[in-house]
Amino acid sequence: MALQVIRGISQLRSVLDKHRQTGERIVCVPTMGNLHEGHMALIQLAHKHGEVVVATIFVNPLQFGLNEDWDQYPRTFDSDVDKLNSVNCHYLFFPTDEEMYPFGMDNQTRVFCPTMTDVLCGASRPGHFEGVTTVVTKLFHIADPDVAIFGEKDWQQLAVIRRMVADLCMRVKIVGAPIARDHDGLALSSRNAFISEDERPRANQLNKSLNWAREQILSGNKDYGRIEAQAKQQILDAGFRPDYFSVCNAQNLAPALDEDTDLAILGALFTEGARLIDNVQLKIER
Ligand code: PAF
Repeated sequence: MALQVIRGISQLRSVLDKHRQTGERIVCVPTMGNLHEGHMALIQLAHKHGEVVVATIFVNPLQFGLNEDWDQYPRTFDSDVDKLNSVNCHYLFFPTDEEMYPFGMDNQTRVFCPTMTDVLCGASRPGHFEGVTTVVTKLFHIADPDVAIFGEKDWQQLAVIRRMVADLCMRVKIVGAPIARDHDGLALSSRNAFISEDERPRANQLNKSLNWAREQILSGNKDYGRIEAQAKQQILDAGFRPDYFSVCNAQNLAPALDEDTDLAILGALFTEGARLIDNVQLKIER
């Protein structure tokens, strides 16, 4: 079946209802488009979780700050459709801003997940996660999927969405997909298009420092504050400005405590034209 592009909420609901009535499971992959290999891996994973795969493309204005790149965010509809067809995606929900926010953004009811959203990326992007949780809630109400797939590259986003789903008793099952990387370890991202040629050979520094920190902890170093400071210095030495570098509890994203065993190390840095994020996970024995 060739990809079917659907722009209206009621149209999507009626096609998905027919699938549901025959017992098929719906798997949703929310995206903002400009699809790359990482997204293709999400769609391939989606096929393993159900019979009907629905990708969504919506460059959600509610999750961009006033000084952010909403208008410059790459919109590549034709190549996105080709890519979705190449991995046998069944439906693409591609709504307009008016379809998603018919009463305007200022009047939109919001979904807010406290505590976890004002740290890390949330500290430098106030309101960002409220925009994400609001649009993801709407997408879940629209598609009513059995499963939804999110990339682990946005670990904080994934953790916040898992918390929201638990807090609001949503039935959807959230599945995280491993980070897709370039040959040198750089995490694939739509924003990599804004890395300059001069910076590109060094842009994997965040990944290098995350792996270095992981090895430090696994070999018994418990001085997380010092590890974070050293990693930030490595990033500065590579010619980038670090945003944050934090050893966290993998689920609640609070700074890791001595007794925590399930950790995530999250980092972000600024290149000249982009802000890059990445993370690694580790479990430690106590
Ligand atoms: O990760 C993204 O692309 C977006 O934050 C999402 C989940 C599609 C919500 O707009």
